[in-house]
Amino acid sequence: MIIAHLSDPHVDVDGTEFHNLYQTTDKFKVAIEKVCLLSPKPEAIVITGDLVNNGNAEAYDIFNDILKLTEIPVYLGIGNHDCRETFRTAFSDHAYLPEAGFIQYAWDMNGHQMIMLDTNIPNEPGGILCSERLAWLDKTLLSTNDTPTTIFMHHPPFKTGIKAMDDMGLEDADAFGAIIKKHKQIQRIYCGHLHRSIQSDFYGVQTQICPSTTHKVLLHLEDTDRLATTAEPSEILLHMWDKDGNIVTHSCFTEPYPILWESD
Ligand SMILES: [Fe+2]
Ligand SMILES: [Fe+2]
Repeated sequence: MIIAHLSDPHVDVDGTEFHNLYQTTDKFKVAIEKVCLLSPKPEAIVITGDLVNNGNAEAYDIFNDILKLTEIPVYLGIGNHDCRETFRTAFSDHAYLPEAGFIQYAWDMNGHQMIMLDTNIPNEPGGILCSERLAWLDKTLLSTNDTPTTIFMHHPPFKTGIKAMDDMGLEDADAFGAIIKKHKQIQRIYCGHLHRSIQSDFYGVQTQICPSTTHKVLLHLEDTDRLATTAEPSEILLHMWDKDGNIVTHSCFTEPYPILWESD
């Protein structure tokens, strides 16, 4: 089983300064086209938030038009650049989404439980898992304690060392960690938001950030507020479960590149 994990496409309407700088819509299309060409075909596409740049309905329409390029089932999460109400309206035909409240849900894939969490704070760059969201997670995990589980969310729960991004990270991550520690069936946590490929351990669980399908955040680990973006190649992640349930994650560039040599 393979899940294609995309994050932070930041789709925007044509003509905005943001769109002109990053061409996010075109790059999201390139990423979806890349997924369509993969063999074996992923069983699902998961996109961990910042689906659009400004939470506006027009941008969600463009996003939806690009999703029509694939028939692979898609599971969507909310980021800080999304708007919960507009998101819900734009994806009202996505049957897995809850009809009200936070955009968090669980689904089954071949006996593995996948969970999407909602870390959005309206109009704030940072994220939170409030007591209501954590209570839902705790209850969901309690009722499925024998099912291997993977969690997807937008804001990473660990500090990355990129200070300007950490300053808009997940508030009170330790409250989330207390729940992670309680439930031993959690195998991985996958996030977005940082626009870089970064891995760490969070309360004993391997935790990985999926880069953006568009621009990257500049890697610098100095203790300053510097925040810059780069044109490093866009990437997606491919999470692969083998028959024994072991998980391997591959990073995959979305733009074309030549094969230089191949065996006979
Ligand atoms: Fe983002
Ligand atoms: Fe974000």
